[in-house]
Amino acid sequence: MKLTVANLKGGAGKTTTAVYLANALAMQGRTLLIDADPQGSALSWSETAGDFPLPVVAAPVKDLNRRVAQLAEGYLHVVIDTPPGELAITRSAMLAADTVLIPIPPSLMDLDRLRPTLELLADLEGLHSPQVVCLLTRVRKGTRSSRAAREVLLELGLNVMTAEVSLRESYANGFGLSLSKDLGEYADVLAELLPAHQTSQVAQP
Ligand SMILES: Nc1ncnc2c1ncn2[C@@H]1O[C@H](COP(=O)(O)OP(=O)(O)O)[C@@H](O)[C@H]1O
Ligand SMILES: [Mg+2]
Repeated sequence: MKLTVANLKGGAGKTTTAVYLANALAMQGRTLLIDADPQGSALSWSETAGDFPLPVVAAPVKDLNRRVAQLAEGYLHVVIDTPPGELAITRSAMLAADTVLIPIPPSLMDLDRLRPTLELLADLEGLHSPQVVCLLTRVRKGTRSSRAAREVLLELGLNVMTAEVSLRESYANGFGLSLSKDLGEYADVLAELLPAHQTSQVAQP
């Protein structure tokens, strides 16, 4: 699986999602995490951890799609974390992916700021068509906001994962930790993502 985690808005949960899912995928097969954010948060997360279970490389470059084959050689899975606001890098990371996962907190402001990310994906039409899925993150369980956000996203014609990631201290405190023993709800996210990925691969000509 080549999974790009993208949302041009900052603070959407990209790095958290990329690191958790990369840890989860690393339990299934050789996985590489590519940090395409010039700020290097995923890389420093792994360096802080010390016993991080997979390699992380920094590649905040606009031609990532051309470099990824070489970087990913010998890996079963590649996860790419992307920066906020950097269209060219995010675009090339989308081109490199078979699956683009968009993490979105269920707030009106985050939904309102989704348009540039969707436009970037729309611009790829005809060139590359990865599977696109939205993941609600920082969800306050028992509030109406996640249901409302889900409805808005579905109305936009987007594919929204059934699994959701709650607003939890443990995720915010995950930075600098190796997560293989505590994947939290990201275990459910991966369980939903992998079969969908396999089906979409079979469906491709
Ligand atoms: N599910 C969650 N619950 C609580 N805090 C979270 C959760 N996901 C992310 N965070 C926190 O929210 C902030 C932004 O998340 P981050 O993954 O860095 O977003 P991005 O990479 O999109 O900028 C970070 O401080 C992170 O620790
Ligand atoms: Mg980030």
